[in-house]
Amino acid sequence: MSDWTRKLFVECSDLFLKFLDERWSRTEEVVNGIVKVLSSFGITSGNLLDLCCGNGRISIYMAKRGFKAVGVDISKAFLEDAKRKTEEHKVSNMVTFIEGDVRNLKKIVGKIQQPFNVVVNAWTSIGYFSQKDDLKIFKQARELSKENAVLLIAETMHTEFLAVKFVPKGYEEVDDIVLLESRNYDLTTSQLKTVWTFYKKRGENLEFIDRVEYEIHVYSPSELSTLLRKAGWEPVAFYGNFSTLQPMSPFTSLNLVAKAK
Ligand SMILES: C[S@@+](CC[C@H](N)C(=O)[O-])C[C@H]1O[C@@H](n2cnc3c(N)ncnc32)[C@H](O)[C@@H]1O
Repeated sequence: MSDWTRKLFVECSDLFLKFLDERWSRTEEVVNGIVKVLSSFGITSGNLLDLCCGNGRISIYMAKRGFKAVGVDISKAFLEDAKRKTEEHKVSNMVTFIEGDVRNLKKIVGKIQQPFNVVVNAWTSIGYFSQKDDLKIFKQARELSKENAVLLIAETMHTEFLAVKFVPKGYEEVDDIVLLESRNYDLTTSQLKTVWTFYKKRGENLEFIDRVEYEIHVYSPSELSTLLRKAGWEPVAFYGNFSTLQPMSPFTSLNLVAKAK
């Protein structure tokens, strides 16, 4: 684990969990779209692998639609929350969560529930390490999957979006937590450096809680396609989002569908 992933996803997990929870309200719609896409490939049930599953929203909603899900994440706190949520959603028998680093995917999930019919990677959960590591992750996912498996990369940042929508400062608020974002994007390397500063609201004042600096590699659709082909996946469609299945554009996130080669 790198220093920043440890800090953001492990040491600050209780803070980041609030932001993960924010996405739950729109997950059912996203999953409806994913189910529609999968049925166009003849996949209506089977085993699903959720890479970097966070607190489990995709795994849990896919389980509600009849898929047996395995979610892998590096954060114990997120997975504990995910397990609580499987009980709330009454899908404990359909979902398994495993703590581990997706770079060692085969070792972690090698013995259970494979081969997978579907692999999902949602909300910019790539580019955290080197491109070599990302290749290794998707290659292992391919080796654990069936011949006709489908990979979905959902709600992911891409270079075209940053070219038209990059803003150096950001602000978000969840409950009593305020998050200030400061971003720096290097066009020559496609590396996006971000500083997140968390504050707690105290009446009229903001009390500093913590600061996390992180850096990710942002892919262009073609760069990601090249990487996926090398990993054994053939990209076949790009959407702006899975809820509406509108076409991808520089103003939308990247939502990619790839078939096992
Ligand atoms: C932006 S969150 C997305 C969570 C989830 N996919 C979702 O859509 O709600 C990124 C996730 O990647 C996980 N993560 C980061 N590095 C990881 C690694 N090396 N192995 C497994 N999980 C990792 C984090 O713990 C975090 O839950």
